[in-house]
Amino acid sequence: MAILVTGGAGFIGSNFVLDWLTQSKETVVNLDKLTYAGNLRNLDPVKDNSNHIFVRGDIGDSALVATLLARYQPRAILNFAAESHVDRSISGPAEFIETNIVGTFRLLEAVRAYQASLAQPDASKFRFLHVSTDEVYGSLVPNEAAFSESRRYEPNSPYSASKAASDHLVRAYHHTYGLPVLTTNCSNNYGPLHFPEKLIPLMIVNALASRPLPVYGDGQQIRDWLYVKDHCAAIRVVLDRGRIGETYNVGGWNEKANIDIVHAVCALLDEMQPRIDAQPYASQISFVTDRPGHDRRYAIDARKISEELDWKPAETFETGLRKTVRWYLDNPEWVREVQSGAYREWVAQQYLDVSSTP
Ligand code: NAD
Ligand code: TYD
Repeated sequence: MAILVTGGAGFIGSNFVLDWLTQSKETVVNLDKLTYAGNLRNLDPVKDNSNHIFVRGDIGDSALVATLLARYQPRAILNFAAESHVDRSISGPAEFIETNIVGTFRLLEAVRAYQASLAQPDASKFRFLHVSTDEVYGSLVPNEAAFSESRRYEPNSPYSASKAASDHLVRAYHHTYGLPVLTTNCSNNYGPLHFPEKLIPLMIVNALASRPLPVYGDGQQIRDWLYVKDHCAAIRVVLDRGRIGETYNVGGWNEKANIDIVHAVCALLDEMQPRIDAQPYASQISFVTDRPGHDRRYAIDARKISEELDWKPAETFETGLRKTVRWYLDNPEWVREVQSGAYREWVAQQYLDVSSTP
């Protein structure tokens, strides 16, 4: 038995693969293009695990995907692969369209052909789980009810628009072709192995490097935050017990303004690794120009996954953030490598003679 994970060298995907391999004997085929956000170092703990098969490649490479499906006959595909950073989608949306929309479309086509080729009961047991975001729902005003699964899609950034398009394609492949799909829409994740371009890891690494902590606009934008391992657990329960064709919103019931997040990170660092000059890290906060089209508030109503599938987050924001800060303090080498680009050079070296054939 095997599952195919796409994007499994990125932040959430690598956490998912690491957790999976500690809990299951089932093989994970991990297809990742290794963009700037994909980091094989994240997978170091499983580099000698024969149940982990890493393949460098693109979800949009139909021939490669078809070969992998035929060879490994996965019972499920979990699609994490995406361009994921809103700011990058504003400065360069093309890659977002290519991977998140066209790539997902090509993946779905390959998967549809594969699923149709399976005999029963494998065909009906097969699942395609699409990992998506709460950002597809757009922005809430203060006191407006949190996003439920029936909320209409109103994406505002090239990132969220491209994810919304991919969600629609997944839905259509179920409705039209009967592909057994599941979709999860999760709020902002944080935790170990998070690339330091996103708010929480950026604040930790900048604080420690005595750099400014850039807070966009007035810092009052609100996000719901979920510890990454809780997201991975939610994906596992949706894969196991989710109803085909359904969407599950995943969140931590944990709305926080950005400025409060930054203060919480600073307070933990003050406690765990005080500055040499004993000044508070919060003195490094610097308000900068706002992000264009910045969504004001996201909030997730996670009742459906909790009531139907009995999933709840194990971490509070306080315990999860403490673990996260601890992880960054304990892994300066990982931070140094992703910041220096050393891991990119290492990947180039690793894959010198390797084409995209598995
Ligand atoms: P990430 O940017 O850290 O990782 C993305 C991974 O996908 C990288 O390893 C990258 O190399 C790979 N990838 C990119 N394009 C690819 C392609 N064409 N083919 C194969 N691999 C490719 O992203 P993340 O934060 O781990 O997010 C994973 C998924 O979860 C995304 O679909 C994202 O939209 C979704 N999501 C993220 C969050 C969050 O807070 N980070 C919240 C909700 C949903
Ligand atoms: P981010 O981590 O990029 O996630 P997303 O945009 O997908 O929610 O940003 C989280 C919030 O933090 C968002 O409101 C933008 C804000 N932000 C800053 O204020 N400063 C920063 O340097 C970054 C990266 C984000």
